[in-house]
Amino acid sequence: MKTHIHRCDENPFIGFIAKIFEAKYNYTDELRNLQSLLEKIPESEKEKCVKIQTLGVNDRQCPFIADFHEAVDASDEFTKLYHTFIRKNILPLFPKETTLVVQKTPNIRFSFPNSAAIGKRKDPEHASSESDRIGFHCDADFGHHFSEMNFIIPMTPMYDSNSLYYEQIDDEQVEIYKNLKMLDPQSEFFQGYLNKLHHYNRINQTQHTRISFDIRIIPYSEYIEYLDAFRGTKFELGKYYVVLDS
Ligand SMILES: [Fe+2]
Repeated sequence: MKTHIHRCDENPFIGFIAKIFEAKYNYTDELRNLQSLLEKIPESEKEKCVKIQTLGVNDRQCPFIADFHEAVDASDEFTKLYHTFIRKNILPLFPKETTLVVQKTPNIRFSFPNSAAIGKRKDPEHASSESDRIGFHCDADFGHHFSEMNFIIPMTPMYDSNSLYYEQIDDEQVEIYKNLKMLDPQSEFFQGYLNKLHHYNRINQTQHTRISFDIRIIPYSEYIEYLDAFRGTKFELGKYYVVLDS
């Protein structure tokens, strides 16, 4: 399965995200310094952004996540940018497809210094492995279908512990965990099969906040092939996913 860093001409989402913070908080610094904004919001709200919670349970309570979704819902601006980006940059990666099934709205991740973008696993099977790996999982653990491909689009430079670590098989067929490094968010995005490749975060020990989108995409032909697996679940078309034609 392909794991690859692709190039793109531009990342239209960075401006969209910057506008949200400027409009709501008067924040005009670089997005990678967003941790400075945490000092200007109420302590209880800050805690929701930096306290490490439980993966998939309560680790998405940072108000900045809600700000993003509010901006997405406020007009069709974001959807237009999103669909244009996918048609231009991602659809060509599936040469046999004219149609993709795409996650309706990206997940936005914030990894602030001394915190992490996702919560820890608390289930007994995995909790013991969480000493320095935060949220170790593959997406199949959470009921995602194996036909999904993952894409990560950076809004800020992603490197070292502000980024994630993902499973790779090296030349000697040994399993290793590779740090996802994308230093130029205007021109890079990642494709990986995170449905089966494990991945995790660390405590962000860099000086910079990481903001990124992650999205899941299924080739339409595969979605149709496995239609029964999606029927009656939250992954039905119109709920989690939408169809995007060329
Ligand atoms: Fe994941």
